[in-house]
Amino acid sequence: MQLTITKPDDWHLHLRDGAALNTTVAFTAKQFQRAIIMPNLAQPIVNTALAAAYRQRILSALPASSDFQPLMTIYLTNNTSVEEIRQASQHKDVFAAKLYPAGATTNSANGVTDVSALSPIFEEMQKCDLPLLVHAEVTDVDIDIFDREQAFIDKYLAAIRQDFPQLRIVLEHATTQQAIDFVLENHHTAATLTPQHLLFNRNDLLAGGVRPHNYCLPILKRETHRLALVKAATSGNPKFFLGTDSAPHATEAKENSCGCAGCFTAHAAIELYAEVFDKAKALDKLEGFSSFYGPDFYQLPRNKQTLTLSKESWQAPVNYTFDSQTLTPFRQDTPLQWTIK
Ligand code: DOR
Ligand code: ZN
Repeated sequence: MQLTITKPDDWHLHLRDGAALNTTVAFTAKQFQRAIIMPNLAQPIVNTALAAAYRQRILSALPASSDFQPLMTIYLTNNTSVEEIRQASQHKDVFAAKLYPAGATTNSANGVTDVSALSPIFEEMQKCDLPLLVHAEVTDVDIDIFDREQAFIDKYLAAIRQDFPQLRIVLEHATTQQAIDFVLENHHTAATLTPQHLLFNRNDLLAGGVRPHNYCLPILKRETHRLALVKAATSGNPKFFLGTDSAPHATEAKENSCGCAGCFTAHAAIELYAEVFDKAKALDKLEGFSSFYGPDFYQLPRNKQTLTLSKESWQAPVNYTFDSQTLTPFRQDTPLQWTIK
């Protein structure tokens, strides 16, 4: 069986920096035309100048024949200024600003400690029509890790949504029924969905042994939530689109007594999504999800090129070279069912 679709884009991607780019960039450029690049580097991309310089480093790591386009974002902090938002919104290579609650995930120490203090920033983003991308998890130690997404929606996101009705918001890597409902109920609100949250539930992380390569944030949830995500992804509703959240960490940083959060899926991203849509008998909905609804939300043209997938199984290697270390791909232990032609 074969399937030809408009070339997809990845609306949520971590490429890292330095020598890591020599591994990460080519995997994404091979299957995606564009990607929204997350700004959570060790030194976060907090302004337009840093974003432009980072973009150049990504382009320098591209294979010669590639015309992949990195779409840059800036990282909101307690010190982000209104003027910075204005500059970012006017720059041709910056497409959004990302809100990380401080301490929520990898490299979020410089994130926002008081979301409500950011009102002038959200006001300016609404005025400039710069999308707000949200890592929607509270960080309170007394909130159970499985409840952190819903708690963020209730405590912060609902108020942002209400106070800035025209602001375009992406609830990144949605993991719960409540997140899906929130997106469905609100205008100018969309969500990205990752392959790991569409394929796996928390048993795949914890039952029969801890599987560190399935650990990411927001954490995998129970099966009822996974089913809600699959239903949203395959519904043909343009509020839901592809964002891998591919997040490379060296093998030894994952297989560790305190392992890092993040699944590296870029080696087989569209193949993993094809498997989800195939299992749901919704392959006819894959193209909208992967290639149309993202650019429509970001008000960018849809791609002209195509990509052909075939239902042929292959096995990812045990690991890839990652600077002086290795990188273990997601779903390495089970053959993948779809292949790019
Ligand atoms: O699992 C995750 N890894 N979730 C995030 O939000 C960040 C990411 C990373 O940068 O490693
Ligand atoms: Zn991410």
